[in-house]
Amino acid sequence: MPANLKQLLDRQKEMPGCSLQQAFYKDPDIYRREMEKIFFADWIYACHISQLAEPGDCETFDIDTESVIVCRDQQMKIQAFANVCRHRGSRICPSGSSKNKRLSCPYHAWTYGLDGKLLVARLMPDDFDKSEYGLKNVSVEVFGGFVFVNLSENPAPFDEVKSKLQSALAPFEFENTRLAHYESHPIDANWKLTYENFFECYHCGPAHKEYAASHSLSLDQNRRDSYREKLVEQAMDAGISTERVEISETMSADLPQYYHHRSALYDDFKTASEDGQPVAPLLGSIKAYDGGASDIMIGSLTYLVAYADHAVLYRFTPRSVDVTDAELFWFVRADAAESDVDLERMKWLWHVTTIADKKIIEANQQGVNSRFYQPGPYSPMEAPTAGLIEWYLARIS
Ligand code: FES
Ligand SMILES: [Fe+2]
Repeated sequence: MPANLKQLLDRQKEMPGCSLQQAFYKDPDIYRREMEKIFFADWIYACHISQLAEPGDCETFDIDTESVIVCRDQQMKIQAFANVCRHRGSRICPSGSSKNKRLSCPYHAWTYGLDGKLLVARLMPDDFDKSEYGLKNVSVEVFGGFVFVNLSENPAPFDEVKSKLQSALAPFEFENTRLAHYESHPIDANWKLTYENFFECYHCGPAHKEYAASHSLSLDQNRRDSYREKLVEQAMDAGISTERVEISETMSADLPQYYHHRSALYDDFKTASEDGQPVAPLLGSIKAYDGGASDIMIGSLTYLVAYADHAVLYRFTPRSVDVTDAELFWFVRADAAESDVDLERMKWLWHVTTIADKKIIEANQQGVNSRFYQPGPYSPMEAPTAGLIEWYLARIS
């Protein structure tokens, strides 16, 4: 560990429960270390199986120096490869979606099967052994139709995440959903400020009047609990789990994290639309609108907010030390007719909320950049953010 990082970490230990020192939000060397220790070591959401419906459907996921191709092969298996040609290293697939019978490199046309095997290498010597030059595999896991990749050579197991969240996710049947809408919001701030913001609802009252008008999560614990009894009853009738799955206790562990909690919307809200009325048909096996919202953490880096009729997945992708993309993916039932999904009303809440978050997170970074900035204490309502910072410090130590 670099000496200056050791010093910073020691100093940070002297201020438990406080935000990070400035260097953590600005230093390019720390950023490089974070890529290695966190983003190249953890499970990250790449795409949804509905985007890989047929053999040859491919999606890329790009982060920092890396790009991953995820595709459905001829046997309908989901495969993930480093998007790096084994000839001289060119990117093979462009960013985004593509449909390919084979994966052909645009440089000298080396061509790979959807299983990653090298099939064609033009004009190479007779004794060239193609079997030695298949695409490099990237670890991939599918859970609830969400496809996760892990760039590590020895990825931490994902099994515990799956087993702990299985029953909470089951009624939504996310494997039978489709991506209905996608947005990416570039935020001029270090990635940790976006995560810190997302982990706490202390700011929801002052910053998100639209969210606070419907979600009891914006209240402190005592007032929130007063809405809970009714929700538990309604959720049970609707077939939705309200069982809390606590964030993994060992925040220092290298294992991916998980979390589930369902909290109440206010009385007349069936879902997260402006008027509280449904925006899409009920998901999965859900029988009724219970008036709840599930916050779910799948692995350490991916979050889902699930209502009875739609869900929004969040991915925060660092683009540089001071730019982060907040990416949002909206899901509805796969068999919902276009006419049964009111896209505008569905995307409204998390669209306006993310625009507001962008503003406050960027203002946060501007203040953190100041010579007058010093780490400040998290409030009790920001306990999850304080926990996140503990986890972060353990990870990069
Ligand atoms: S770099 Fe891909 S074929 Fe040459
Ligand atoms: Fe927010």
